[in-house]
Amino acid sequence: MGNITPTLRDPLSMFQVKDKVAIITGASGAFGRACALTLGALGTKLVLVSGSEAELANVLAEVKEVGGDAVTIKRRPDSLEDAEAIRDFALETYGRIDQLVIASGYNKAGFIQDMDYEDWQAVMDANIRGAWFMAKAVGSYWIENKIKGKMLLMSSVRGRHGNVSGYTAYCTSKGGSDALTRVLATEWGQYGITVNSIAPTVFRSKLTEWMWSDDPVGQATRKRSLSRIPLGRLGEAEDLMGMALYLLSPASDFCTGQIMYVDGGFTAG
Ligand SMILES: NC(=O)c1ccc[n+]([C@@H]2O[C@H](COP(=O)([O-])OP(=O)(O)OC[C@H]3O[C@@H](n4cnc5c(N)ncnc54)[C@H](OP(=O)(O)O)[C@@H]3O)[C@@H](O)[C@H]2O)c1
Repeated sequence: MGNITPTLRDPLSMFQVKDKVAIITGASGAFGRACALTLGALGTKLVLVSGSEAELANVLAEVKEVGGDAVTIKRRPDSLEDAEAIRDFALETYGRIDQLVIASGYNKAGFIQDMDYEDWQAVMDANIRGAWFMAKAVGSYWIENKIKGKMLLMSSVRGRHGNVSGYTAYCTSKGGSDALTRVLATEWGQYGITVNSIAPTVFRSKLTEWMWSDDPVGQATRKRSLSRIPLGRLGEAEDLMGMALYLLSPASDFCTGQIMYVDGGFTAG
């Protein structure tokens, strides 16, 4: 008979995140908020990051409602200085950082024939540049302090698939985010740091609310998306939380550099 390890005796201990400390960028968004509530309810201490003080106050109140412990910082990781200030605020508040969740992101669709370079760049900056700055600031701290941190990025099925809707910026940014995930995982594996991404298809958020509206373009886009999703519905941020918890807890200690498709089966067909 093999040895029954403590983990096999108590499998749910693999998902323990109590007393860990997480930074969540884009905490005011649908995915960021859901992560904040999930981790907050499980006892992770949270540093909620966003450019909107009012939205942060709402999420903070909700985290407290589920018994969580959190602080907020109104700042976006637009530069290395911003990212280091966010990191230092987390360290001053809680003394360590275990998890980094990049939940910030943005899209501006437009066909390349009509699109301004500035709009393309704004999407790239929101979806990759901030992640790179945060990875640099927090990763340096993890390496220096021998902390086996966990980084979670938000990708999309659009990192792998094109789209007919004017997505040269968004798809390119998510493809870049997937590459960043793999490179960081490769470089940081030696330190025990894991880096993974969740790649959803459409879930309801400020970014996609228009697909739930009566707007004819929204309806047509919704119909087209649904026709490709075997499970027959669009997602909600909550649908992503099982995977988020897996990737942020010890359960995923041997998983790194992966793009996890939580997409109702979109990429299967
Ligand atoms: N919803 C979907 O269907 C879907 C599908 C696939 C992937 N994703 C990805 O999931 C992630 C989360 O998106 P979501 O759907 O939760 O969207 P969301 O509700 O719009 O939240 C996005 C967050 O990003 C921040 N943000 C917006 N523009 C930004 C910019 N230019 N620079 C830095 N931060 C910015 C916003 O925070 P503040 O404005 O408060 O700073 C907001 O809280 C994104 O990376 C998105 O691309 C979403």
